[in-house]
Amino acid sequence: MSIILTGIQSTGIPHIGNVLGVMFPIIEIVNNSLENVFILIADLHSLTSLKKSYNINNIKDYSYKIASAWLACGLKIYKAVLYRQSDITQVTELFWYLNCFFSCQRLKLSHSFKEKKKMNNTGMFTYPILMAADILLFDSNKVYVGKDQLQHIEITRKIAKKINNLIKKILIIPEAKIKKDSMSIPGIDGYKMSKSRKNTINIFYSKKEIKKQIMSIHTTSDYISNNDDLNIIYIIYKLLANENDFFSLKKTYKKAKIELYKYIINRFSYERKKYKFYIKNKKIIKSILDKGTEKASKIAKITIKRVRNALKFKII
Ligand code: TRP
Repeated sequence: MSIILTGIQSTGIPHIGNVLGVMFPIIEIVNNSLENVFILIADLHSLTSLKKSYNINNIKDYSYKIASAWLACGLKIYKAVLYRQSDITQVTELFWYLNCFFSCQRLKLSHSFKEKKKMNNTGMFTYPILMAADILLFDSNKVYVGKDQLQHIEITRKIAKKINNLIKKILIIPEAKIKKDSMSIPGIDGYKMSKSRKNTINIFYSKKEIKKQIMSIHTTSDYISNNDDLNIIYIIYKLLANENDFFSLKKTYKKAKIELYKYIINRFSYERKKYKFYIKNKKIIKSILDKGTEKASKIAKITIKRVRNALKFKII
């Protein structure tokens, strides 16, 4: 039996790219299988991107929102362990050990280092190693990520292999899993949808905000020429709708943005309602996260013991 793990950084509410690319596929697997699944809310990672105001409350708030989104999208909570990364102190302990088994030079070659030209803090630099700790702590075999995270899994594998070879065979080498057809969900500017580009469509925002996002989808002459593969509206619509619906959208292509907006509101009305419910009932979320922490920390403690033992540190 394999162990599945995935995570979302808590720096915003999951957008349609997260929902279609990670949440729905994972939920389908989780709800229909007997495998062990860990879903983490990466709030330690989000500390690296705190804005100038250092508003710590935002991080906590977003953790609840992300948990609410998982539940709103249909995750059967008894099938998975949903937990907050910061609740598992063993993550940061393992993180340190892993740091000492990966070359600084190599880390500098990673995309995340190159992309973030303005590295405001060391956490931004060592971000991939913290992710490796998340993964290795739970002996995960399959890690669900977006395409942009593949390199982090490569780094994780390298560290695990190095420790296994140099010290003792104690870590499981994970494999990355990505959902092919939604790998490249375009944002409203045509580039990959991401929080950092601010080009998202957020199904959990108010109708007014969603409409605004959709109405600002960039349209080029290809839009006029009705080209399926270049038209952002069509690409997003195709990911959501069946062929008949897509065909009728194309017929009304002059009003395509409004049609897409209506479709999204309708398609996600159930999820939006549930999301609102959880946001209003934080106690439910809190107790779910507490249960998740309880289960996750049992396993984390076992792994850390194994690692400390291999490193000849006292077992505490
Ligand atoms: N870095 C991931 C992202 O930004 C989030 C994440 C943190 C993660 N830890 C993880 C994903 C462990 C998978 C496994 O999307």
